Amino acid sequence: MTPKLEAVTFFNGHKMPIVGLGTGQASKGEVGRAIDVALETGYRHIDAAYLYGNEAEIGQALKKWFDLGKLKREDLFIVTKLPAIANRAESVEKYLKKSLEALQLNYVDLYLIHQPVGFQDVGGDTFPRDKDGKVLLDMNTDIISLWKAMEAQVDAGRAHSIGLSNFNSSQIKRIWQAARIKPANLQVELHIYFQQRELAAFCKALDVTVCAFAPLGSPQMPNLFHARGGDASKLVSLSPMRDPVVSRIAEKYKKTTAQVLLRHTVQRGIVVIPKSVNPDRIKQNFDIFDFELTQEDMDELDALDKGPKGRMFNDAIAPERTKHPEYPFHERY
Ligand SMILES: NC(=O)c1ccc[n+]([C@@H]2O[C@H](COP(=O)([O-])OP(=O)(O)OC[C@H]3O[C@@H](n4cnc5c(N)ncnc54)[C@H](OP(=O)(O)O)[C@@H]3O)[C@@H](O)[C@H]2O)c1
Repeated sequence: MTPKLEAVTFFNGHKMPIVGLGTGQASKGEVGRAIDVALETGYRHIDAAYLYGNEAEIGQALKKWFDLGKLKREDLFIVTKLPAIANRAESVEKYLKKSLEALQLNYVDLYLIHQPVGFQDVGGDTFPRDKDGKVLLDMNTDIISLWKAMEAQVDAGRAHSIGLSNFNSSQIKRIWQAARIKPANLQVELHIYFQQRELAAFCKALDVTVCAFAPLGSPQMPNLFHARGGDASKLVSLSPMRDPVVSRIAEKYKKTTAQVLLRHTVQRGIVVIPKSVNPDRIKQNFDIFDFELTQEDMDELDALDKGPKGRMFNDAIAPERTKHPEYPFHERY
């Protein structure tokens, strides 16, 4: 019988289900239904963010489940993220409260700093640009004082655990060393072409768990890129679900390529949050616990890693971010 890899355990004892539902780019009008299908399927982990603009619809769907007595709050693991426009200590409580209000929750299980680069907060626009289209950066981001404000949210009971997203190893180390409450989780781009092996090993040594965003290679990414006005010459668009090695292994197990990709990451002990609003695909992405990849298959899939060349979420959406003192991707990992 295949062992069920159902959750990873944080240093503080909290458990994060190893498969969650991604909600980035899940439009209003479809995300609520996706939550319904996911909860019916057995998902208990939802990955949200203030940036995605759909927390209110997620909150309505969750409330329905609680009101009907089908689930209790403690059955679920809800993640949301501090937007870049709130990357300063005095904004953390305000933005977490906004997310909690939209989600209709008293606390989140995990609150992440969405990215280390701060943007200016001009009337709440999450991607503020000047008249020439350049993102309005806040060059004074202080990630240590920001982290102290994150810790205060745990003290206040608004977040059970706190963590980071899109931070590099030296930023994680700086926070880890200064922290009274350590980061429990790092969420980063991670898929078969960008396996983040050095960063994952680094996190493991600090007892920081890892969650993979874009675990299927984010086929919708070019849409997001164009919507945010990115520099097309820098767009990296890879298709791991169409990789011939992944297809061959999928055929062997009578699984889809998506299932093989998710299983490969989960077998590394890394959490995955595939996004889907399609009922069949939501179910498919959760149905990865009835098979186990052999060591030989794992080795073959490991060998598809392109290292940093496999990074798709680069600086192309907002190249001026690279000028920010906390831009994370100048470093190898
Ligand atoms: N922290 C960050 O900075 C950050 C950045 C990006 C993403 N995220 C989080 O990570 C989540 C996942 O990342 P992502 O949405 O970029 O990429 P992804 O999960 O790798 O890919 C999602 C895309 O794949 C399609 N899809 C899903 N399941 C499929 C299947 N079984 N077969 C074929 N196609 C399938 C979806 O379309 P359908 O919906 O039509 O099925 C959607 O277009 C996001 O939703 C978000 O919650 C975080």
